[in-house]
This record gives sequence, C-alpha cells and structure tokens, in this order.
Amino acid sequence: MSEKFKILVVDDEKSVLDLISSMLSEEPFSLEVASNAAQAFRILESQSLNMVITDLMIGKESGVDVLKKAKELQPNIVAILMTGQPSIENVVTVLKLGAFDYVVKPFTEEILKATIYSGLQKQKLFRENIHLKEQLSLYKISTAMGSTSDVSQILDMVLTTALREFEADTASILLLDEKSGKLILKASRGIPDYNITKSLWDLEDKLSTMVINEAQPKIFNQKNLKGPDKKINSFISHPLLAKGKVIGVLNLIRSEKLNPFSSGQMQTMGIIASKASTILENTKLYEELENTYLSVITTLANAIEARDFYTAGHTERVSRWAVTLAKKLNWPELKIKEVRMGSILHDIGKIGIPDHILNKPASLTKQEFEIMKTHPEIGVRILQGITFLTPALPYVLYHHERYDGKGYPKGLLGENVPLEGRLMSIVDTFDAITSDRPYRKNLGYDKAVQEIKDNTGKQFDAEMAKAFLEAWKAGEIEQSPSAFEKTQRIFAGMTESPIGSTSLK
Ligand SMILES: [Fe+2]
Ligand SMILES: [Fe+2]
Repeated sequence: MSEKFKILVVDDEKSVLDLISSMLSEEPFSLEVASNAAQAFRILESQSLNMVITDLMIGKESGVDVLKKAKELQPNIVAILMTGQPSIENVVTVLKLGAFDYVVKPFTEEILKATIYSGLQKQKLFRENIHLKEQLSLYKISTAMGSTSDVSQILDMVLTTALREFEADTASILLLDEKSGKLILKASRGIPDYNITKSLWDLEDKLSTMVINEAQPKIFNQKNLKGPDKKINSFISHPLLAKGKVIGVLNLIRSEKLNPFSSGQMQTMGIIASKASTILENTKLYEELENTYLSVITTLANAIEARDFYTAGHTERVSRWAVTLAKKLNWPELKIKEVRMGSILHDIGKIGIPDHILNKPASLTKQEFEIMKTHPEIGVRILQGITFLTPALPYVLYHHERYDGKGYPKGLLGENVPLEGRLMSIVDTFDAITSDRPYRKNLGYDKAVQEIKDNTGKQFDAEMAKAFLEAWKAGEIEQSPSAFEKTQRIFAGMTESPIGSTSLK
C-alpha cells in the first residue's frame, strides 16, 4: 500500500529547496522543484500533482500567481504557501484563492509534515466524497429507471438527476437521425439563464459529432474548448451505443461554475449512458413491434368489414368510443392500450360466419342466429396462439355478454361478466343502434342514448352506463359524420325494428 504523493515545491532560494527535499526525501513523497514561476507552470501543465508548496515571494514573482495557475489547471490540487512574515492581508488573500494552509519560515520538519499530511487527508476525504456522490447518483438513476417504463419519463429522470448530481447547468440527449445523419435534440433540461445562442448549439453539435465519429466519450474544458461561447466552461459528451453502433450522445455542460468535469465523472456518465441507450433501443424495438402488430390487426379487422359492408366503420367507431369510456372510467394508460387492441379485434370471429348470414337483408332465423352467436369464440380461436394479442381476448369473448345474464356465449351474470366485456357491450350496442343493418336502417342517437338509460343496471353495468351517458352529455362520444348524415338524411325520427336484435353485432 505505498501510495505516492507528488509534490511541487517552488522557491527561488536553492537552500530552501534543498532543505525541503531532504525533509521529504523518504516515501511516500515524490518531489518536483522549481525556482521560478515559469518553471512551475511547465510542471503544472505536464504532470498531475497532489500538492504544490510555494513561496509567497519567488524573487520578484508572486506565489499567488503559481497558486492561481495551479488551481486553474488542477482544481483538486492542495496548495500550501510559505512566507517569512505573514501579514493578515496576505494570509486572507491566499486562503480565499483556495490555498489549504500556510507555513511560516523557518519551519521544522514536524510542522511541514503535519501541514502536508493534513492537506493530503483533506484531499483524500474530498475524493472519497466525490466517489460516493457518483455512486449515489448512479444508484438514484438506476432505481428511478426501474420504476417506470415510460421513455420520456425515464429520460427526464436521467437528465434531471444528471444535472443535480454532476452539478451541470445543461443536460441533453441528442439522437442521430439515420436518414440525414444529423443530430436531433431528443430531450434537454436546465437550459441556463443566459440566452442559449445558436453558437452554443452549433458547438454542441460540432463536439458531439466528433464524439460520434470516434465512438469515444470526451471531456472538453475551457483550455481545449476553442468554441465561440466563452460561457461554456466544461463539457462532457458521451456516445450512446446500441449493438456497437452510435445512436446518439448524452451531453453535460457546466457554464458559470469554475470546476471542470473530472474523468471519474465521465466514467460514471458512461454507465448512465449505457442504461439510457438500452432503454432507447428497447423502446424503439417495442414501438416497431407494436406498430407492426397494430397494422396487422387493423388489416384483419378491415378484412371483416370488407365482407360485412353494412357495418363499415363499426370497428373504428367502437374502438374510439371504448377508449373514451375507459378513460372516463380512469382506467390506467396500459389498460387503455389493451382496450384499443381488444376493440379493434372484437368482431374478428365474423371471418368464420358465412356471407349469407352475415349480410342477410332480413332478421336472422333462430338457427342462423345460433351460428352468428359463435363469432366471439371463433375470434378467440383465431387469436389465442398469439401471445402479444392475449390481452385482447376478453374483449373478443365477452362483448356480447350482458349484465342481466341474457347475453352470449356464456350467459354470465352481473359482476361475473369481466369488465372488458361490460365496457364493450355498451359501445357495441350504441353503434348497433346508430348504424344501418342488413335487416333495418339505423335508429338514431336519441334512441340509442335512451336505450342505454333504460338499461342502466340491467343490460349494462350501472357505473359504466352512467359514465358513458356523462361522456355523451359532455360531447366526448364523437358521432361519426357519415352515420350522423345518414341518420339525418334517411331516417330522421323513424321507429320500428326490434332493439333486441341490435345485440347481434
Ligand atoms: Fe360482435
Ligand atoms: Fe361489434
């Protein structure tokens, strides 16, 4: 465990340099000496040091300049000043500039070593503290990421936490557009007070492009930042990699703060960047998959409507209203997705119903009706092998069940009818009444609303029926223009046709 401490000693008197060299000749110290400021600067620029011990007056030069330069180049360096006759003003000045302590010449070996060890101890604690903070920030982000699957929420957490924990002024995620090859800003937080000028974004774009081309993270500090905006003090750009390909960058900017980012922070950023990449990639894959499935099921649903031409638009209307009603009932977002899928597919089983029954321009015979009643179960048989579509099954199977137990295929009663079926039966019936059928014309919206009212707590779940009527009253159940026009044009005020048969569709 022989940790070495690198110390630069600056003094114009050779005797002082020799004396200190002999005092600190043993392990764990490794010494560099300089007899003027220029020499000290060169060492500070070329080597990483733990400590600088400088005379306050280096000949005609000032030790304060060495102190300033040391802090500018190596912010975590411990600085100790040596002085012959300390004045209060001098001491206050150097301490304000970040010096750790001072020793008064002549000093003993004990005093010098005690001051050095106490400075190194402070530095160690400071480093440990930074390390702990980095660990903690990582832990916080990991926990937050596990608590939600919403990508914009996750990105928000990553950026907000990064801002706070890394004491950055701006945090942003830019993604590479595959077609144009350009960086697109996906999310950003903590835009600083001063005007984010175009030059800042140009700079960010330029530096990030460099990072993307090399697929390596980079820290840009004021020293190597030759950008147009002097307000950017330090900048970390970390590539986001998915399957070895760069998909974007995670950027942190410090503007007004003095300290540049450290390479340790860049490493911590690396872990966050890799988590963010995984989430972004998974989300993209999931969205692509979901879109593919949705287009497949919509195609399937359209295939039925192509045959069942009297009910064109039925699936689209029912799906829209089912989502509205589910939202009115405060169903969670994830469940709403299932409602959308389930309602699009609810009549898929009609694929198995012969044309002459599906499009019969008169009421069905008892025997034909029995065949028609098999469509929920046919639908389940079509879909049940596809894991992704499993959540749609209750909507398909139970959409003709009734709360009063008079539905089909199972004739379930009351609460035994799954919620999905209770929801569907309201919107499905509402559309059945308001659209034309092979055996009758539509009955209009007033009749449909009355039907829901009259059957609240009977055919329909009371709470759901009330929510639907409220939504209707609030204008949230959008009427289909075509159906509405038909209502106006052809059957304004007409009656007749048994309502019971509306449960056929
Ligand atoms: Fe149906
Ligand atoms: Fe239907």
